[in-house]
Amino acid sequence: MVYKRVTLKDGHIVMLDWLKKSDLPELVQVLNSVIREGEYLFMNNEITDMEEERRWYERGIKNGMLYLVARVGGKIVGGASIHPRTDKQSHVVGFGIFIQESYRNLGLGTRLTREFVEIAGKRGFEILQLSVYSTNMRAFHVYRKCGYRECGRFTRDIKFLDGKYADRILMELLLN
Ligand SMILES: CC(C)(COP(=O)(O)OP(=O)(O)OC[C@H]1O[C@@H](n2cnc3c(N)ncnc32)[C@H](O)[C@@H]1OP(=O)(O)O)[C@@H](O)C(=O)NCCC(=O)NCCS
Repeated sequence: MVYKRVTLKDGHIVMLDWLKKSDLPELVQVLNSVIREGEYLFMNNEITDMEEERRWYERGIKNGMLYLVARVGGKIVGGASIHPRTDKQSHVVGFGIFIQESYRNLGLGTRLTREFVEIAGKRGFEILQLSVYSTNMRAFHVYRKCGYRECGRFTRDIKFLDGKYADRILMELLLN
């Protein structure tokens, strides 16, 4: 059962669906392509340990992670998720998202970001949080457009492999 069907700016049809354990090898391939770009994500190295991935998935599901994958023509082109924090932060979720290079700037990121604002609200969470590199103006723009606001930054928190720095901008969205 597909969760939602979305039409992109170029007419591509995207199916959004909840991540299943059997999706992990394909999801990791797409994630690794974004890691290889070297600009947007924390990891310097591709994910190779699929056993650890499966443990990550099981832990995530147990802790209330909600993860949507986006598919075009049956192939995964991206994913987005919220991860509930624990204890005195149980009212807070962290948001994350990535889209394969060839499907960017078509409205999918905005759609997924908005979708998770709605999902978090419906599930009774009060705050969404994320962080984004100061060099990633597209992501920053999308988050602001969807209601997040900058609430702080760590200066030069990120050092890319070429030696250049970026600040890590902290963003939050307070629901109601
Ligand atoms: C960030 C990301 C999720 C956004 O998703 P997307 O599908 O590409 O975004 P959308 O098509 O919905 O929207 C892109 C918006 O950014 C704007 N944009 C594009 N490049 C931009 C730039 N360099 N500076 C500012 N805005 C930019 C577009 O004009 C568009 O704005 P509009 O809808 O107001 O016209 C996606 O590009 C991505 O996965 N990037 C690589 C991984 C990543 O950065 N993950 C997030 C880490 S915090």
